[in-house]
Amino acid sequence: MGELTASPAAFELLVRNTSEVLTLRAPPGRDAERALGAVHRGVVGVREGIIAYVGPEQDVPEGAVTAATQILDAGGGFVGPGFVDPHTHCVFAGERSHEFELRNQGASYLELAKAGGGIMSTVKATRAASGADLVALTRPRLARMLAHGVTCAEVKSGYGLNVRDELKMLEVVQSLRAIQPVELVPTLLCAHAIPTEQKPNRAHYVDVCVKEIIPEVASRNLARFCDVFTEEGAFSLAESERILVAGKAHGLIPRLHADQLTASGASGLAATLHASSADHLEEISEDGIRALADAGVVAVLMPTSTLFMHQKRYAPGRKLWDAGVPVALGTNVNPGSAMSENHALTLGLGCLLNGLTAAEAYWAATRGAAMALRLPHHGELVLGGPADLVVFSCPTYRHLPYHLGINHVRWVVKSGNVVVQRGDAPECGELRRRPDLGV
Ligand code: NIG
Repeated sequence: MGELTASPAAFELLVRNTSEVLTLRAPPGRDAERALGAVHRGVVGVREGIIAYVGPEQDVPEGAVTAATQILDAGGGFVGPGFVDPHTHCVFAGERSHEFELRNQGASYLELAKAGGGIMSTVKATRAASGADLVALTRPRLARMLAHGVTCAEVKSGYGLNVRDELKMLEVVQSLRAIQPVELVPTLLCAHAIPTEQKPNRAHYVDVCVKEIIPEVASRNLARFCDVFTEEGAFSLAESERILVAGKAHGLIPRLHADQLTASGASGLAATLHASSADHLEEISEDGIRALADAGVVAVLMPTSTLFMHQKRYAPGRKLWDAGVPVALGTNVNPGSAMSENHALTLGLGCLLNGLTAAEAYWAATRGAAMALRLPHHGELVLGGPADLVVFSCPTYRHLPYHLGINHVRWVVKSGNVVVQRGDAPECGELRRRPDLGV
């Protein structure tokens, strides 16, 4: 039985001829395949930017499809919700390809940072750029994310590291929200690094974060989350706690870069503060895993950056999932540790390197990511929810991690509008059954 709308009004858009529609509507549980909520050969009807119908084609209400309804013929591809990217640093100026080369020759991320590269080199370039420059630089990055199926992304500040430039970055995010289709969720990350000029008196910079940047950002409603890079060479546990507690007092939800390069215990802090997410987690301990599970904190894994940085350990996605931690995948797109906007690639790496199954990785890139951002109806296709969806050129989600690093997107729909048209994307029919060939 399909899910019918109360209103008999016509659909503006109908997606049909699918292999399956993944609704992500079932409770996550441990059985990710079930949690994908597949509707075999389902169709999706859209009206006024929201999902008006998901179900079998024969149950589409009479009169809902008219001559004015735009039809997307999926050609046997599968359909799912728009990807949600829960962790990006995509507003920045400059680039760091030379660091990529040096790391490939053995230099470590911390060594490069100590030698004047790393985050501070991007801070220098970003401070020198105007807001308009940053809008122009970021827009194509968002377009690439969208082209890979991302309809909603978190975006962090963190390359300003003073009142003026942190505000500038978040204003850039606000401007970008108005001029392009990817929905943006802003995060204040003034605690990304201690800026060079403040190094002699780091306590002063923590004061600036707590007493100036956080109150100003909150009063201007420029961010939803407050994030901290809790790490050797960045912020200690005590400094992180002070900043996140101050953010919370101003209505900013805490989240952390946790246990990325060293086992700092930041996952425990994420649990204590009821953070929405703990991100990275390559070095998380058994205690940290238990703490996240008990507190229901989402674990955001970003295998692209683990790979980029030649880290020895990948975040233990398998263990986290089995322990009952909600797992999300993100790109972490940034010029230093993950220069890729391809979210589907993270699905593949999540399987290859974090030990997730294809179904778990797909869940993590959609529902899990939306949970990390506390978005109740993103990353799923639910009646009355946002009509953010992707039509893929392949017949099953399993193809995304398997056929690695390729863009399988055919169409992207955001709030009911077709915003990416790759109708000529070549069909990936390898997994289609061919009874004529006996397979
Ligand atoms: O999430 N870990 C800290 N921040 C980023 C790296 C940013 C940069 O190197 O510019 C990350 O990996």
